[in-house]
Amino acid sequence: MIDRPRRNRRTEAIRSMVRETHLRPEQLIQPLFLADGRNVQSEISSLPGQYRLSLDHAIPFIASCIELGIHQIIMFPVIPEERKDQMATYSYAEDNFYLQAARQLKDHFGEDICLISDVAMDPYSSDGHDGIVEDGKILNDETLEVLNKMAVAQAEHGFDIIGPSDMMDGRVASIRDALDDHGFTEVGIMSYTAKYASAFYGPFRDALDSAPKAGDKKTYQMDPSNRREALREAELDALEGADYLMVKPALHYMDIISDLKETSHLPIVCYHVSGECAMLLAAAEKGWLDYETAMPETLLSLRRAGADVIITYFAKDYAAWYRNQ
Ligand code: PBG
Repeated sequence: MIDRPRRNRRTEAIRSMVRETHLRPEQLIQPLFLADGRNVQSEISSLPGQYRLSLDHAIPFIASCIELGIHQIIMFPVIPEERKDQMATYSYAEDNFYLQAARQLKDHFGEDICLISDVAMDPYSSDGHDGIVEDGKILNDETLEVLNKMAVAQAEHGFDIIGPSDMMDGRVASIRDALDDHGFTEVGIMSYTAKYASAFYGPFRDALDSAPKAGDKKTYQMDPSNRREALREAELDALEGADYLMVKPALHYMDIISDLKETSHLPIVCYHVSGECAMLLAAAEKGWLDYETAMPETLLSLRRAGADVIITYFAKDYAAWYRNQ
């Protein structure tokens, strides 16, 4: 036997020399669920270890992330039911606590954080859909107007990157135009390019209480059966001015991550979504999997598939684990 692959695996020094993939904390984005008010810290039951935090708790949480090397935060608002309406008007209202918090966080942390927003109507919509609902249909072009206002308000309040997660057609071009018109040419767009109508968003919808009141999201989010369609979405987003392309969910869509990495020159982001994290947490809770080894393996595999950046609820845990290596 001339060829013995095991020779390159004999010691840790040899293994680390030939290691092909690395994942550093700065390649991770930590999600944060922001609640209104003060002294709120309520755990999400379907996503143990993740909390809805009011700003006073969010600040020390972010500081602890930064200390571990995670400077990237994607923030989602928990909107009280009485603030929701059909047109999601609270999403760009003067007194919106999410926008005000963004301004305070940027004043507090400055360039020490990269703050990423969420653009979609669902957290603010009394229908629980990402777009305007009329007679059970989701209106595309009318929704773009709302998304533009939301994105501009977010840029005005200091968000570094705008994250449209709504899957309306033409939204990247529309938001890019609106941002540029208001002088925000330096604010980036991280587009949820290939976002699938997935069963794995359950815990997130629990966290925000944002599940659709009627119907499902299949007329705008992608069909899990489709692979080539992701390339079409990627082409459009790139032409429309996206700065990042995202695949969501991540683990169950690694082929899509790999396809986009091969065909685009933009950074590829994947969203390791709430349900995908919950599966591992539940198995670990039962003692069926070891979190400390399964968690880094999971994230590393996403990177190996081609993700440049990973959004994951495990970001902070990974950074703590990484420090001890
Ligand atoms: C809202 C949005 C969703 C997620 C991110 N932004 C839920 C949805 O589309 O229903 C899910 C993230 C996760 O599950 O972690 N447009």
